[in-house]
Amino acid sequence: MIRKIVVINSKGGCGKTTLSTNLASYYASHGYPTALFDYDPQDSSTRWLAQRPENLAGIYGVAAAHPPDENITRSFQLRVPPGTQRLILDTPASLKRMELIEILRDTWAIIVPILPSSIDSCVTSDFLQDLGKEVRVHAPGASIAVVANRVRRKTRAFQTLMTFLSDRDMSPVACLRDTQNYVQAAAEGMGIHDMKANLTRVDREHWQDLIDWLEAEPLQSDADPLDSEKHLNIA
Ligand SMILES: Nc1ncnc2c1ncn2[C@@H]1O[C@H](COP(=O)(O)OP(=O)(O)OP(=O)(O)O)[C@@H](O)[C@H]1O
Ligand SMILES: [Mg+2]
Repeated sequence: MIRKIVVINSKGGCGKTTLSTNLASYYASHGYPTALFDYDPQDSSTRWLAQRPENLAGIYGVAAAHPPDENITRSFQLRVPPGTQRLILDTPASLKRMELIEILRDTWAIIVPILPSSIDSCVTSDFLQDLGKEVRVHAPGASIAVVANRVRRKTRAFQTLMTFLSDRDMSPVACLRDTQNYVQAAAEGMGIHDMKANLTRVDREHWQDLIDWLEAEPLQSDADPLDSEKHLNIA
């Protein structure tokens, strides 16, 4: 059964592409047939995939921000290979409402990266309110999780972020540290799970929190329609 994961936030630069590509590499490298759809016209995930070394686990990619070739339909463009188990969607900071509705259809889980900064916190909080309304109508079985990204645990900015999220009943399911591992991996079409384990041990532990949350989520057909509210105060 295919499980669709959408990585989304209207705040630019918060880590949507980093999380999308690392999720795709995690699942692919753990034996799940995986697809990565890039809804961002800047094509960052598509470029990342084009650089992916051939000896690594393959990921099926679609540059979904661009219209299909003349001789094929949109639904043909958005098909995935038979047997695909995980579908990851990287999205742009700016989306029209109809694009958001298309993206949300049949979604299993939604991941919202957030950076430890007051501007990012406020923008993301507003975004989550708006997203929650659309999710309730267009993806009622989907669960939403916040992931703190580029975290430096000993900083005041991190503590402020955790308090901000906790006060709003939005505590992050995972906190990913600020490290060049992500930058280096991205430059080579890899995720941290494709890199040497001894260099990325700490990061793999952080990722396990996110994977544990994802894999514990029920499929849409099993879920309570209000499940999306159990992780976030989106009323
Ligand atoms: N945990 C991290 N540690 C270090 N650098 C990071 C981390 N996460 C992201 N970055 C870097 O921050 C920059 C922005 O990340 P990314 O491109 O993933 O954000 P985005 O939300 O996709 O941006 P956009 O809104 O432009 O699509 C990139 O240069 C990326 O390598
Ligand atoms: Mg991006």
